[in-house]
Amino acid sequence: MNAAVARTPAPLSFSPAEVEQIRKDFPILQERPHGKPLVFLDSAASSQKPVQVIEAMDDYYRRYHANIHRGIYHISELATEAYEEARAKTARFIGTPCAAECIFVRNATEALNLIAYAWGRHHINAGDVILTTEMEHHSNLVPWQILAQEKQAVLRFVPITSDGRLDLTKLDDLLDGAKLFAFTAVSNTLGTINPVQHLCARARSAGAVTVVDACQAVPRMPVDVTQWQCDFMAFSSHKMLGPTGIGVLWGRKELLDAMPPFLAGGGMINVVKYDSSTYADVPARFEAGTPAIAEAVGLGAAVDYLEALGMVRIHASELELARVALQKLGAVKNLVIYGPGIDHRTGVISLTVGDIHAHDLASILDREGICVRAGHHCNQPLMEKLGVPATTRASFYIYNTPAEIDALVAGIETAKRIFKIA
Ligand code: ALA
Repeated sequence: MNAAVARTPAPLSFSPAEVEQIRKDFPILQERPHGKPLVFLDSAASSQKPVQVIEAMDDYYRRYHANIHRGIYHISELATEAYEEARAKTARFIGTPCAAECIFVRNATEALNLIAYAWGRHHINAGDVILTTEMEHHSNLVPWQILAQEKQAVLRFVPITSDGRLDLTKLDDLLDGAKLFAFTAVSNTLGTINPVQHLCARARSAGAVTVVDACQAVPRMPVDVTQWQCDFMAFSSHKMLGPTGIGVLWGRKELLDAMPPFLAGGGMINVVKYDSSTYADVPARFEAGTPAIAEAVGLGAAVDYLEALGMVRIHASELELARVALQKLGAVKNLVIYGPGIDHRTGVISLTVGDIHAHDLASILDREGICVRAGHHCNQPLMEKLGVPATTRASFYIYNTPAEIDALVAGIETAKRIFKIA
């Protein structure tokens, strides 16, 4: 290869030809709902799946399905290897050298509940402060509410600014007395990217353990727990090209080692007697029962796919789409975009159009083949804070194109005509 060519850095965003190539990997993009090309703008809720993930799971079921960590026969050993290889890939993907720090759970919600039960019930006492933020989705709010109620602890919230960023001016006061600080890396509603490393450092100085909800971050940007220096992190496979039914709890090994089980049963024990049991080491201690084996295989294939594209480029491409979308949507009269400007956000864009209800707008877009999420986005308190009952949310990912932004804008104009909005 020509050395000069080899040294030329790849442009960060995917070229149109590369996006076309990526799109070919997603069979669902050939669908034509209501006779229109499918424009899938709801990846923040759940991403689509490339054929590589679908085939890896199919291959598992066809060739080596068996229970894992139990069978003394070849295909069970193959299944066990594939499951543990998926764990090792996932660990590497999020920057930890220790695969045992990655616990496979059902989804990010279960991961957050696991922390609230197995860590929270043993460390949070009456009067302790649990700090979270005003932009958390329900999964990173309700478990802490229940914990606080049970333990008579105090819930505090980092407020948000008018442009949908965390207002950190009083962070030291808010962290005073906090034992736990749980916050999202990227808002699922506003698209805001939070300064995770900085927040973890401030929490550490205050003596608070950090829980990072990374559901929207892991699929769309490089994430490195060693760099972030967080204590726990939760994310789901289904938002990062993998299957539903599996998610990841990452925790610092010394914290996980000291935690009692959350769910009990087969696979998480060491020695069982009629009156008592001892428990396995992590990660098995937190993986009771037959786990989601095919889903782990699928998650491993999703990690391979994302790594081959490169998370730096995935992030850059999404920002480019977000920049174009903000520009084009910003030019639509009577359309309000929530959240910060391009320097502080991802391609997750919540909006309202005049007084059209979000569900009506989403239904009209659906007739055009465009899938968006409408509602409170599992974020009711934030909707109240924004002063709206609901928003329509478009979220962009690796397979979206600028032409799909034009389709979205055209669909919104159709809705405006129907509702007679200027
Ligand atoms: N938390 C997911 C979303 O934002 C379901 O849509």
